[in-house]
Amino acid sequence: MNRWPPCSKVRSWRLAAGREEPVAMIVLGIETSCDETSAAVVEETGDPERPWRMRSNVVASQVAIHREWGGVVPELSARQHVRDICGVVERALADAGSPTPGAVAVTQGPGLVGSLLVGVSFAKAFAWTRGVPIIPVHHLAGHIESLVLHGGEMPLPAIVLVVSGGHTSLYRVAVPGSYERLGRTRDDAAGEAYDKVGKLLHLGYPGGPAIDRLAPLGHDRAIAFPRMRLTHADRNAPNLPGTRDFSFSGLKTAVMRHVTARRSTLGLASTEPLPERETIDICASFQRVVVETLLDRLFDAARWYQARSVGIAGGVSANSRLRADAEEQGRAKGIPVFVPDVALSTDNAAMIAAAGLRRFRGGDLDPYVEINAEASLAL
Ligand code: KG4
Ligand code: ZN
Repeated sequence: MNRWPPCSKVRSWRLAAGREEPVAMIVLGIETSCDETSAAVVEETGDPERPWRMRSNVVASQVAIHREWGGVVPELSARQHVRDICGVVERALADAGSPTPGAVAVTQGPGLVGSLLVGVSFAKAFAWTRGVPIIPVHHLAGHIESLVLHGGEMPLPAIVLVVSGGHTSLYRVAVPGSYERLGRTRDDAAGEAYDKVGKLLHLGYPGGPAIDRLAPLGHDRAIAFPRMRLTHADRNAPNLPGTRDFSFSGLKTAVMRHVTARRSTLGLASTEPLPERETIDICASFQRVVVETLLDRLFDAARWYQARSVGIAGGVSANSRLRADAEEQGRAKGIPVFVPDVALSTDNAAMIAAAGLRRFRGGDLDPYVEINAEASLAL
């Protein structure tokens, strides 16, 4: 049944002298795929180089709730989204100067289905009551478009690494809004490895920021943790296409074995942390391997596909060494490197609104489609 108004009736278009002319579109973005409830207002600028401007971006983090459990508890996450969503949206609209959005963009998936449902249901209600279309957005498209929201359009073709708690994937963007996946993790995501190693080292949840803080204080070659080697072909011909996947579970196990061995040598119980000096060196050595692995894949793919720019998005792109090393390698190789502002690295609704605008203008949007949350949505 037709429930949403057609795009041509949306407020982003007005009749001028009998012609339809686009006017700047304002989108309300909503993100509830994991443990952040977020709403944002993003508008078009009319400038093709920097197409979007963020007017507000409100994030209510649930980290303090999940920390107690050492990771995200899906049911607690969904319930907290229900508590927070109305206030977060009101605040995002108020911070933006109470505009009238012409559409609402929402994360449809992938993510925790109960959490996604809160955002999708809210977005449907908002769209229905305001008579505006709803734009379903893939969470990873949001992370990719965070690069453009922050730094302007990337020279294409671009290779983008999306590296977060749930994903480690490499994409080729040949035309705006089209994302071709070149590789993905076969087991743990890089952020997941950070979080598990952080837990092992008694650094709390999430482990990524904690390890990032300690790593610069340590010796990054103190422990020779292994680099991933996926296949024989990968070992011998790392530049062939088809070998762009990632794996971090071996590294995580190597850290676990090292910690267990050191505990036994030092006569510590399995619940006791290692001495601080050792913990810091483990953080530094682990981080060096993760960053080198990610950047080797990214720049190999960039060379193979003759990319004109590279980007790194997702929660782990907040990592200070990953950013610094990427920029240094980009300078050395003469290729521009895009990374989002730290506030746009971790989950937020501004990136969802930006990806929604990309999709809305891309013309592949069916405003009549009935959407539902999709835990395993493909990009
Ligand atoms: O994108 P995000 O907010 O949520 C997902 O879509 O997963 O990413 C969260 C992940 C967590 O695993 C967290 O430990 C990691 O990003 N992270 C970091 C840093 N800040 C967040 N990892 C390494 N260094 C950081 N500074
Ligand atoms: Zn994310």
